[in-house]
Amino acid sequence: MEFLSLPQTDLNVSALCLGTADFGAGTSEADSFAMLDAFVEQGGNFLDTAAIYADWTPAGKGSSERLLGKWRASRSPRNIVIASKGAHPELHSMGIGRMTPEEVEGDLNASLSNLGVEAIDLYYLHRDDASIPVYEVLAMLEGFRSAGKLRYYACSNWRPHRIREAQEAAQKMNVAGFVANQPLWSLAKPDLTGGDQTWAIMDDDSLALHREMGLPAIPYSSQANGYFQKIAEARPLHSSIEATYDSELVRPINRARFSRLEILSAQTGLSLTQLVLGWLRGHEFPVVPIIGPRSMAQLQDSLRAADVKLTAEQVSELVVSG
Ligand SMILES: NC(=O)c1ccc[n+]([C@@H]2O[C@H](COP(=O)([O-])OP(=O)(O)OC[C@H]3O[C@@H](n4cnc5c(N)ncnc54)[C@H](OP(=O)(O)O)[C@@H]3O)[C@@H](O)[C@H]2O)c1
Repeated sequence: MEFLSLPQTDLNVSALCLGTADFGAGTSEADSFAMLDAFVEQGGNFLDTAAIYADWTPAGKGSSERLLGKWRASRSPRNIVIASKGAHPELHSMGIGRMTPEEVEGDLNASLSNLGVEAIDLYYLHRDDASIPVYEVLAMLEGFRSAGKLRYYACSNWRPHRIREAQEAAQKMNVAGFVANQPLWSLAKPDLTGGDQTWAIMDDDSLALHREMGLPAIPYSSQANGYFQKIAEARPLHSSIEATYDSELVRPINRARFSRLEILSAQTGLSLTQLVLGWLRGHEFPVVPIIGPRSMAQLQDSLRAADVKLTAEQVSELVVSG
């Protein structure tokens, strides 16, 4: 598998990152361990988790991190890069930020204990609280870094103007600032009208910012929850996928993109999964898609995209309709 060096860090990460939100919750421990083993055997080293996973299931908050901690302790894998996240609002009050130093330190300490590590390799702020000035946010994160609790930090679901402010403040403070951004991003255009208003998508302003700053993107829901594969297989779309990717607003765009995918697939012999992930990786700044397999078959299918990167021409061809 290809590797890439995240700029401003000594982190060398695999071309695909394995998302583990469902591990130890919807995906059993045995299946999760098997997928983690297979990912590592095939060269993967980059894992994504969060303190809040999977608070919405009976397994409860921290179950993904605890599973990773247990797997790590039993396998002692080398050169693994674990990314985790804190500062997520409580699920019952998503509009209320949780980004004070006390709140983030509490999350960070829980993650360190769940994962059984001394420091988190890459620590994301899972959401923003725009009422807190970026200088205070950076000072807080630098404090955790100096204390040895995290190695590098990044943001997820931050609006582009706040990322810009933070990166400009980081320059003035002479620190690296955010070394990556984790937005919702895939070839399928999302309609978030009825969705989580605290998600931040890769909109035009964000794209411009990534291009200008060369800031790495580590997108989640990078396969639009299997939207294109489900259409190809004529599988029913779950109501949340339908609302997000097949609503009246975005259906014409996404169906047109699907048609283009089919044409490109016939021309290149690449699968839809390879094209969807290869499209993200074909952008002109570093992109490491997070994959979200629910089975070994999906993992193996997604891993076949690890060496695929579309050309600039193919990247623009696929989005021509919107
Ligand atoms: N920062 C954030 O706020 C945030 C938010 C969400 C997720 N994440 C991270 O991103 C990870 C992935 O998120 P996600 O689950 O939304 O991503 P996703 O990969 O777009 O969606 C996962 C779904 O896509 C389908 N799928 C996956 N691989 C497939 C394949 N090879 N072929 C066909 N269908 C496939 C499956 O649907 P079926 O099960 O229906 O077959 C699976 O349940 C999470 O585990 C987490 O680490 C971060």
